[in-house]
Amino acid sequence: MSKVTVVGAGNVGATCANVLVNFQLADEVVLLDIKEGVSEGKAMDIMQTASILGLQSRLVGVTNDYARTAGSDVVVITSGIPRKPGMTREELIGVNAGIVRSVTENILAHSPNAIIVCVSNPMDTMTYLIHRETKLPRNRIIGMGGALDSARFRYFLSIALNANPTEVEGIVIGGHGDTTMIPLKRYAAYRGIPASTLMPAEQLDKVAADTMVGGATLTKLLGTSAWYAPGAASAQVVAAVLGDQKRLISCSALLEGEYGQKDLCIGVPCILGKNGIEKVVEFDLNDEEKALFEASAAAVRKTNAALDA
Ligand code: NAI
Ligand code: 2OP
Repeated sequence: MSKVTVVGAGNVGATCANVLVNFQLADEVVLLDIKEGVSEGKAMDIMQTASILGLQSRLVGVTNDYARTAGSDVVVITSGIPRKPGMTREELIGVNAGIVRSVTENILAHSPNAIIVCVSNPMDTMTYLIHRETKLPRNRIIGMGGALDSARFRYFLSIALNANPTEVEGIVIGGHGDTTMIPLKRYAAYRGIPASTLMPAEQLDKVAADTMVGGATLTKLLGTSAWYAPGAASAQVVAAVLGDQKRLISCSALLEGEYGQKDLCIGVPCILGKNGIEKVVEFDLNDEEKALFEASAAAVRKTNAALDA
């Protein structure tokens, strides 16, 4: 029996819970929020699709009742405030750091062995904060950002190539920020054929640029940040852990010398399995990519410094 808790029953959290039960990725899902009634209502609404969709998983909503989350295998933290148009993810730090700190403490009191997936923004810094506060081994704390950014990269690549998105490869590393993420154009491919040979360089540059502002574009259109792809990407990370899938997914991981960095959480290709981050995979980066990664790491470190301001 697998059990997952999703903290925050807002747009991203509720979507993640919905995907988890729709695709039967977990046996039991607990959706927890601080706002009275919201998680109960959303869980009930989702479970009322059970007879229509043939759901087999169980979803319950609770208001701040951490006892009900006990024994979770994986906990997804989505609680916090989202971006509004014109805001950067970094501007959310003050409020969200307090929320993430207290949520993590409550979660671990009831599920001491859980693997934590951090979604709240600024995600790389929040993931780092969880490491700093809990001192858990690095495999147990996964930052979700690269899974989403890579899905956006594959979406824009598939449109440019007029191809099926599942047959297009694309990975984004670096910080989960509009200027810090690095869509690896050199590794983008269609069925193993380099994307750089299938479209003009300017078109591939535009695909990468659209990916980088993918979140901001949606925030402008929606008036708040996106949730369908973020919720699904969070569920994808959970599924990789629960299913011991050994999938290579870009995640924010605590680096211990990989990519020349230490004491920093930033997006890198990771193998995800039952132990969480089972391996950080070091791609061979060229000088330009290395320089971009170093600049991205410096920017994430600057945001981390705000934790002590
Ligand atoms: P939302 O406002 O729809 O939902 C947030 C929920 O958190 C609300 O229901 C709120 O009541 C709840 N909450 C606040 N404090 C809480 C606490 N102490 N305990 C439990 N619940 C609490 O926001 P949305 O759109 O769901 O976004 C959530 C977070 O995820 C934001 O920080 C957003 O920036 C981030 N995000 C991260 C992405 C990523 O790729 N890492 C992608 C999209 C969003
Ligand atoms: C996103 O990328 C804002 O992190 C959020 O949609």
